[in-house]
Amino acid sequence: MIISKPPFCPVQFQGPELLDSGFHASADMHAVWARMRDETPVHRVDPGGGREPFWVVTRHADVSRVLRNHGEFTSRRGTILCVIDLDTADVATDDMLADTDPPRHREFREPLNKAFGPPVVTEHEELIRGLARATLRPALEADVYDIATPTMMFQMAVTGTLMGLPAESWERMVELTMMTIAYDDPSYSTGSAQATVRQARHELFEYFREEFQRRTRDDSKPDVMGVLRAMDLTEGPLSERQALLNGFVLLIGANVTTPHALCTLFTLMAEHPEQFRAVRENPDLHQSCLEEVLRWASPVTALMRYAVHDVELGGQTIRAGEPVSAWLGSANRDERVFPDPYTFDVTRRPNQHVAFGVGPHYCIGAGLARRGLRIFLEELLDMVDTIEIAGEIGHVASHFVPGFKSMPVRMTPRKVAAR
Ligand code: HEM
Repeated sequence: MIISKPPFCPVQFQGPELLDSGFHASADMHAVWARMRDETPVHRVDPGGGREPFWVVTRHADVSRVLRNHGEFTSRRGTILCVIDLDTADVATDDMLADTDPPRHREFREPLNKAFGPPVVTEHEELIRGLARATLRPALEADVYDIATPTMMFQMAVTGTLMGLPAESWERMVELTMMTIAYDDPSYSTGSAQATVRQARHELFEYFREEFQRRTRDDSKPDVMGVLRAMDLTEGPLSERQALLNGFVLLIGANVTTPHALCTLFTLMAEHPEQFRAVRENPDLHQSCLEEVLRWASPVTALMRYAVHDVELGGQTIRAGEPVSAWLGSANRDERVFPDPYTFDVTRRPNQHVAFGVGPHYCIGAGLARRGLRIFLEELLDMVDTIEIAGEIGHVASHFVPGFKSMPVRMTPRKVAAR
């Protein structure tokens, strides 16, 4: 099929490219999704090579149904569209928050909700503010500054503190996170995709094993590792393996998403200075601006589910057991929901984006992410007058997150007198 929906460039597209990370880094995915939403909103892709065919769902209503309705679409076989895992049984079924369905899901979710609840986030506000300022300061002191990795370190410091992970491991954890999701990006891969993912998972699990073993069950520390150490399931205390899996999913969930939203914020401020001037002058716009940044960024591109039984969706029959990918990046530009979806508008209300998902697995870190992004926005507006993208932007090759691996920026400070 040839994609040529204005205002896009024509794109050649067959289907299996959706599993090709390089395609995501180089093609205009919005052109692909726009055409799919219009013509084949529930589309079966046969990747060939003996791989299992999978369904691609692109409209907002269908994406929401797939994510929300665990009676039809289960999370138990895994939720990340990872080429390596697509054909294999998920090893984390019923043992890792993301890979459970209710009611099992609640056993993990309720105790962990407390570890990321509003009081915990409020307690860390000043820390987050200090980290935001420390991330921006070097950019203001340099002529051109690559801010992509510092945004990853910003989020790692927030997550690492809340989880109770030692600071000396944070830099390596960021690298390992990127190896996990961008396994065939030359900037992160250490060999074949399989070898890269295996090494990253192995090292991360070892970090979490050490932390888990350092704690005791009556450890009074309220951080996430402390919560995992004290957690009980119906069958008894959380096992070490279950703790590693859940530590892993929390770290990945936080680290790969928020930095992408931040980098998108910088590009948007560079492209729409007048809208950000309005946001600076009117704090009532802060929240709608952030929601629009989240819609625009869609830091999670796609999520997986598997059909529990035969399901009719978008005029197609999805057979029991078949993998279904729900494309959040597409749903967030669906013209059936968002008027003028390709216009960035800081005043957009309502804004029913699905950047944090929907249903029982709605992002557990959404409150933390929103507060962190809001603080970052406040500091950005306070410290920075203008942003210019000062070189070529490097996109992470991944079909899970549309992240940035390099973003050279030139930032000018606000005049002290004006602050
Ligand atoms: C802008 C930032 C973020 C975005 C866009 C985002 C996006 C998402 C999405 C779309 C889901 C739904 C997954 C599903 O339905 O299968 C999700 C779940 C999840 N997120 Fe986030 N996330 C963000 C920040 C965070 C943070 C800061 C954390 C860590 C505290 C986190 C940890 C998780 C976890 C553990 C889940 C699984 C929840 C469950 O299965 O019940 N995320 N996130």
